Amino acid sequence: MRKDIGNKVVVIGAGFVGTATAFTLVESGMVDDLILIDLNKKKAEGEVMDLNHGISFLSPINIKAGDYSDCANADIIIISAGVGIDSDETRLDLANKNSKIIKGIMKSIVEYTRTAIILVATNPPDILTYIAAKSVGYDETKVIGSGTVLDSSRFKYLLSKHCGINPRSIHAYILGEHGDSEVAAWSITNIAGTRVDHLCEMCQTYKTDCTGLPKDEIFGDVKNAAYEIISRKGETSYGIAFALRRIVEAILKNENAVLTISSQLKGEYGIKDVSLSVPTVVNRNGVGKILELPLDEDELKFLQESSEKLKEVINKVSI
Ligand code: 2OP
Repeated sequence: MRKDIGNKVVVIGAGFVGTATAFTLVESGMVDDLILIDLNKKKAEGEVMDLNHGISFLSPINIKAGDYSDCANADIIIISAGVGIDSDETRLDLANKNSKIIKGIMKSIVEYTRTAIILVATNPPDILTYIAAKSVGYDETKVIGSGTVLDSSRFKYLLSKHCGINPRSIHAYILGEHGDSEVAAWSITNIAGTRVDHLCEMCQTYKTDCTGLPKDEIFGDVKNAAYEIISRKGETSYGIAFALRRIVEAILKNENAVLTISSQLKGEYGIKDVSLSVPTVVNRNGVGKILELPLDEDELKFLQESSEKLKEVINKVSI
């Protein structure tokens, strides 16, 4: 981290996700230099003007609309450019189109840096994280996807609503694809150091109107959350922006935080040659360590099936 001159975060793509992310980063007070890059430079300039008009209320920050040369010396480059999902599409339907866009972006980035952490948010992030690193031979421990950080947050939110416990006191992970084949890791979900099933039994002894955890309903609501939002407002941006802010925080502050980011597995959980989400230690180097936690048999099987589904898509899009 360039402590002497402050940190620099670049956001590529000034659409809904990129601008919501820029907003959360400006507001966070964590970032010293924030650069917004978009093919439509005027749009990026307008967003930057708008953001700059709020900085008298906030911690000091330099915000500007830039170009790829601004990637030099960046600490983190967030990629949110590409097409979003329509109401009749899945994330994987975007793989072809967005992989071409990501490859072009990575080609431009490596003209200026190979040290920045690349944070891929564009859908489908698992496929694009893999392709981003492979297409230009970037150090794969520095290329991470937003993966299921958002899904894990949705999971915690729904558990918190059901159990009446603050989501920050809940450890719960959604693993695998950020998408339809994702897996809820119930066996390692815990509240107050206690497995959620056990806590649920204890809770029912005094909360007599509760009939237990509606696991299928909760997981279904996590998995379908984006479709539900898109059918109402046409896109999702705030949730993913907060998830990206959390990942940026873990990197800039060298936190060694455990987050379900997407990265390339090297045999963990019997999976390799694909990027997907598992609990991962995140620090200023990007991927600190991939944790291989004891999942139950079904969860492991579903995780491996998720990886196969992603591999099929990777094989169809040319790297
Ligand atoms: C989301 O889950 C659409 O991937 C986006 O909000």
